Amino acid sequence: MYIAQLTDTHIRPKGHVAYGLVDTAAFLARAVDFIARSALPIDAVIVTGDLTDFGTAEEYAHFLELIAPLAVPVLPLPGNHDERAAMALALAHMAPFGQTQGDDLSYAADLGPLRLIMLDATVPGAPHGAVLPVHLAWLEGVLASAPDRPALLALHHPPFLTGIRHMDVQNCQGASELEALLMRWPNVLAVVCGHVHRSVHTSLAGRGASIAPSPAHAVTLDLAPHAPPSFHLEPPGFHLHCWQATEGGPHGRLVTHLVPIGAFPGPHPFFDASGRPVE
Ligand SMILES: [Fe+2]
Ligand SMILES: [Fe+2]
Repeated sequence: MYIAQLTDTHIRPKGHVAYGLVDTAAFLARAVDFIARSALPIDAVIVTGDLTDFGTAEEYAHFLELIAPLAVPVLPLPGNHDERAAMALALAHMAPFGQTQGDDLSYAADLGPLRLIMLDATVPGAPHGAVLPVHLAWLEGVLASAPDRPALLALHHPPFLTGIRHMDVQNCQGASELEALLMRWPNVLAVVCGHVHRSVHTSLAGRGASIAPSPAHAVTLDLAPHAPPSFHLEPPGFHLHCWQATEGGPHGRLVTHLVPIGAFPGPHPFFDASGRPVE
C-alpha cells in the first residue's frame, strides 16, 4: 500500500501568488503531474492541511482544478490556513468529514487493510493546533472499532518540537495526552504531519512521527532561538509512505521516502550489459 503525502499547498485564487512571489498553483501542478505520470504504485494521496492560503471558496475551487489529473483517491485535512466551513462545502465529495462530536472535520477512511485517521486538531482563528478531549474520545473509538487494523494518524500541526522556534510556538498542544493514547494502540504505525514545510523525522509514543515538505516553499532551516520567520525556495517534494504487510511486527511496517519533485538526470545503470560495474 503506497500513500503519497502532499501538504501545505497554500493555493490562492487564479493569478495570485503567495507571499508576493510563490506561485503555489504552478508548484502544485508540477507535483500533481509528477504523481500522475509516476511509475510509483501510488494508491492514494493525503493532503495534510493548508490546502489554501486563506480558505476561500475561490481558492478551494482552484485547488480542485489543480488536483483533477490525479486518478487515485485524494483525502484532505484542514490546516490553520484553511477554513472548515468553506473546505467542507467545497470538498464534501472527497471525504466523510466531521465524525467527532465537535465541529472539526476529522474522519477515518479505510484504504485496503490500512486505516487512515485524519485528525483535524486545528483551532479556528489561531495558528496553533490542539488535541482536545473530543478528539481523544473519537480516536479511542475509531481505534477500538478495529484494534488489529494497521493505522496511520495524520494531523496538520506536529505534536512535537522541531527546533525551528517560530514554528514550535504554533505546533500542536495536547501532545502528551495524544502520546498516552497512542501507547495503548500499537496498531498505529506512524504519525504524519505538515505545517512546518520541511521533511522532519522523530518518534512519538515509540513509533515514527514525521513532517512532510511542501511541494512549494520551505520554512527556512534556522535553529537560532530568535530566528525571524522566513522561507526559502528549496527543491520541492513530498513523502511517500509505503506499508509493508509482512515486514516488521504484527501490523506490518511503514517506510517513508522523501521524493523530490522534478526531472532529474537518469536513470544511469550501475552495471553494463555483461553485468560488470560501469567504470
Ligand atoms: Fe503551511
Ligand atoms: Fe500550517
